[in-house]
Amino acid sequence: MCGIVGYVGDKNAQDFLVSGLKRLEYRGYDSAGIVTLDASGKPTLVKTKGKIIDLEEKLAQNKRDDKIGIGHTRWATHGEPSETNAHPHQVGDIFLVHNGIIENYKELKKALSKYDFKSETDSEVLAALIDSFYEGGKYPLVNAVVQALKLTKGTYGIAVISTKNPEEVVVARAGSPLVIGVGHGETLIASDASALLGHTKQAIYLNDGEVATITKNSVEIKTLNAEPVSAKVEEIETSLAAIQKDGYDHFLLKEIMEQPESLKETLRGRVKIKDGMVMLGGPGLSESELRKIKHLVIVGCGTAYNAGLLASYYIEQFAPEVTVEVVIASEYRYRQAYIPKDSVALIVSQSGETADTLACLREIKKQGIKTIGIVNAIGSTIAREVDGGTYVHVGPEISVASTKAFTSQAVAMIMFGLTIAQAKGVRTNILRPFVNEISKLPEKIREVLDEFNEPVKKLAENYKDYDHAIYLGRDTAYPTAMEGALKLKEISYIDANAYAFGELKHGPLALVDDRFFEFALVPEGELYDKAVSNVQEVLARGGHVIVVTNSKEFDLPVENVIKIKSDIELLAPILMNLIAQLFAYYTALAKGLDVDQPRNLAKSVTVE
Ligand code: G6P
Repeated sequence: MCGIVGYVGDKNAQDFLVSGLKRLEYRGYDSAGIVTLDASGKPTLVKTKGKIIDLEEKLAQNKRDDKIGIGHTRWATHGEPSETNAHPHQVGDIFLVHNGIIENYKELKKALSKYDFKSETDSEVLAALIDSFYEGGKYPLVNAVVQALKLTKGTYGIAVISTKNPEEVVVARAGSPLVIGVGHGETLIASDASALLGHTKQAIYLNDGEVATITKNSVEIKTLNAEPVSAKVEEIETSLAAIQKDGYDHFLLKEIMEQPESLKETLRGRVKIKDGMVMLGGPGLSESELRKIKHLVIVGCGTAYNAGLLASYYIEQFAPEVTVEVVIASEYRYRQAYIPKDSVALIVSQSGETADTLACLREIKKQGIKTIGIVNAIGSTIAREVDGGTYVHVGPEISVASTKAFTSQAVAMIMFGLTIAQAKGVRTNILRPFVNEISKLPEKIREVLDEFNEPVKKLAENYKDYDHAIYLGRDTAYPTAMEGALKLKEISYIDANAYAFGELKHGPLALVDDRFFEFALVPEGELYDKAVSNVQEVLARGGHVIVVTNSKEFDLPVENVIKIKSDIELLAPILMNLIAQLFAYYTALAKGLDVDQPRNLAKSVTVE
C-alpha cells in the first residue's frame, strides 16, 4: 500500500501524477515514483525513497510532456523503503503500481524463474506474471492482467500500463480502493477520490473483482470472469476547501478545532430535543428489530476501537438487557467467536477501508448477523458492504492521528444505543439527559477548545522531554484515557499507556518515578472520590501528575490541573478528550515532529 494515481488524456501526465500523489501524502508513505509514456511508448520512470518533494527534485531533470502515466506512494510491507522497492515496477513491457499484498508471491516467483527480479516486493512478481501472459503485446493488456489476477491470492488495487500501447491504463481491485475520475478528454485514476478534486467531480468506484480498461475517452469495466459491468458514475461530495489547511499550520490542529462543526454535522437532523429522542434513519432497522437486539458487537481498529469502547460504557447505562462487546478487528477476524442470533454488529471505521475491519464485516455477515456501519468516508468499501449505516459526516480527516472522527464515532454509537433504548420503551426521563447533553456538546466543545488551547500549549512544553506517560481513567474516562495515550504515542513518540485507575495497584504503580508523568482524567460522579484516592496514591510515590477534571472541588497538590467548567456531566470525558488531543498536538509540535504524518504510520491501513 499506499496511494495510487493514474492519468490518460491530453494534458501533462507528470503534473497530475505529482499533484495527485501530494493529495495522498496524508495517508503516510516512505517512497514514491511515477512513470509516463510518450506517444511511441518510451517510458520515463522516476522513483525515490522519501517524500514527494524529493521526487519533484528528481523530476526537474526528467521533465516530459507525456500524456499517460501511473504513480504511487509506497508504505513498505515487503522489503525496506528504498528506490528499488518503490513502485512503479517495470517487468518487460509492463509497468505496475500496486496497493495490497499478494499472499502467494513466493510460489508465483518460483514459477517465474526466467525473470530477473530486482526488488524484494510482492508487487514486482505480479508485474512479471502479467508480462508472462502479455507476451510482448500478443494479447490485449486487459487479458494478461485478468489471467494473472486469476492466479493471485491476496488483496490488490493495481494500475498497469504497457510500452506497447501508450493509450490505455488497466486497473483492477480486490480489497484496495480504486476510483476512476471521468473528465473531458481525460480519465484519471486514484486510490482516494481526494486526488481527483479540482479535475473532475464525476467518479466511478470500482468494486472488488472488477477490472477496467481506461482510455482518455472511455472506461470499460468487466468482472474477472469477463461479464460486462455497467459503470455507475457518482458525484464526489468532498470539496477542495475541505482538504486544505485553511490557515492552520497542521491538519491535526485544524481537525481538532473543527469539532464543534463536524459534530454538528453528525447530529444534523438526528436529535429531537423537544421529545428527548434521537432518530437514526440509516441503520434501517424496524422498531421490532431494534426491540429484539440483545447483543451488540462493536468492531474497529485504533481510534475507532477506542470510540467503540467509550460508547459501550454509555450504551450499558441506558439500553436494558443489551450486552456490548467491543473487539479489535485484527484479533476478532481469526477468533472462533460465537455471535448470538439477536445481535447487531457495529462496524466502525473513519476511512471505511481498513482491511481487518472489512474482513470482520464479511465474516460477521456470513453468520447472518445484521451489520451497521459507523463510517466517515462516503462510498467507501465498508459503507457499501454493510446492511445499513450511519455516516458520521465529519468531512475529510487528513491527519494520520484521528481526532474529529473519534468524537463523532463515539456520539453516533451512543445515539444508536439510544435508538435501541427508545424502541425497548426505556422512559424518556432516563434518556433525556443524554439527548440533552448530546445536543449541547458542539457548543461546549467550542468553549473548551477556546479556553484551553493556549494553556495546554504551555503545559505541553513542560512535558515534552519525558520518555514515558501513564494515562489514567475509570469508567467512561478509561476508554478516553486510552485514546489520549494513543494520540500522544503516535504523534509525539512518547511511550504512553493507559490504565484503569483500579488496575494501578496491580502493576503500573511500580513504574511511577521521575521518567514518567501521569495524565489523569477525573470526572465528577459516583467514582470521583475513588479516582481522587488513586491520584493521591500516585502523588505519594513521587508522581508527576496532570489532572483533567470537571470538579470544582479538586484540590490535590498535583503538578498541573485543568478544570473544565461546564454543565456537561454525563459526557464530560468527551470534553476531557479534547484536552488530551491538544496536549498530544502541542507536545509533538514542541518536539519538532511531523505532526500530520508521524513516522511509520499510515492513515488508512488497507493491508493486514
Ligand atoms: C490507522 C489510523 C488511525 C485509525 C485506524 C483505524 O491506524 O492511523 O488513526 O484510527 O487506522 O482506521 P479507520 O479508518 O478504520 O477508522
